[in-house]
Amino acid sequence: TKRVAILISGSGSNMVRLAEDMQGDHPARPCLVLSNVPDAGGLARARAMGIPTAVVEHRDFKGDREGFENALISAIDPHAPDILCMAGFMRILTPLFIDHYAGRMLNIHPSLLPKYTGLNTHARALAAGDAQAGCTVHGVTAELDCGPILGQAQVPVEPGDTPETLAARVLQAEHRLYPAVLRRFALGQRGMLRL
Ligand code: GAR
Repeated sequence: TKRVAILISGSGSNMVRLAEDMQGDHPARPCLVLSNVPDAGGLARARAMGIPTAVVEHRDFKGDREGFENALISAIDPHAPDILCMAGFMRILTPLFIDHYAGRMLNIHPSLLPKYTGLNTHARALAAGDAQAGCTVHGVTAELDCGPILGQAQVPVEPGDTPETLAARVLQAEHRLYPAVLRRFALGQRGMLRL
C-alpha cells in the first residue's frame, strides 16, 4: 500500500476527496496532511478523518526559502510517504524540495494547462473569452505548473460566469479528477486521463 502525504493551504476540499477515495481496495492510504497556514480549514477536516496533521508556517521563515523547505522535509519524511499530493498548497517550491521528492509529487491546478500557469486562472480564462475551462493534475517539476500532465477535466464556460462561478464549476471537476488520477498513479499507470 502506497503512503500519501497531502499538502494544503486552505479549505482542503480536494484533500477530503482524495482521503475519502483512499479506502477499501484503493492502492494507497493518507499518512499526513500538512499545511503552511495554521488555521487552514482542511486541518480540522483531516483530524476529523483521523489523519495525522502537521503545520509548518512559512511566516516563521521570512525570506528563508531553504529553511522553510528543510522544515517541510523534516515534518514530512518521518511519515515515509511514497507520494506527495499538493492540493491547494499555495507556496512556490524550489529544487531543494522538488528534487527530494522527484517523480513522486502531484499537483492540481485550476486551468487547462499549459494555459494559465500561476494565479487568477479563472479571471484570465474569462478575459480570453475561452469556451472551455477546467483543471489539470500534473507531476511536479522545477518549472511552476509545467510538469508532465497526468489528467485533465473540462467544464464549459457559461454566459454570465464570474471568476467565482467558474471556480466553483472547475472545483467540482477537480473533485472528480484528482482521486481518479491518484488511483492510477498509485498503481504505476502514467498515461494521461481525460474526464
Ligand atoms: C483548488 O481550486 C486548486 O486547484 C487551487 O486551489 C484550490 C484549493 O481548494 N490550487 C491552486 O491554485 C494552485 N496554484 P481546496 O483547498 O478546497 O482543495
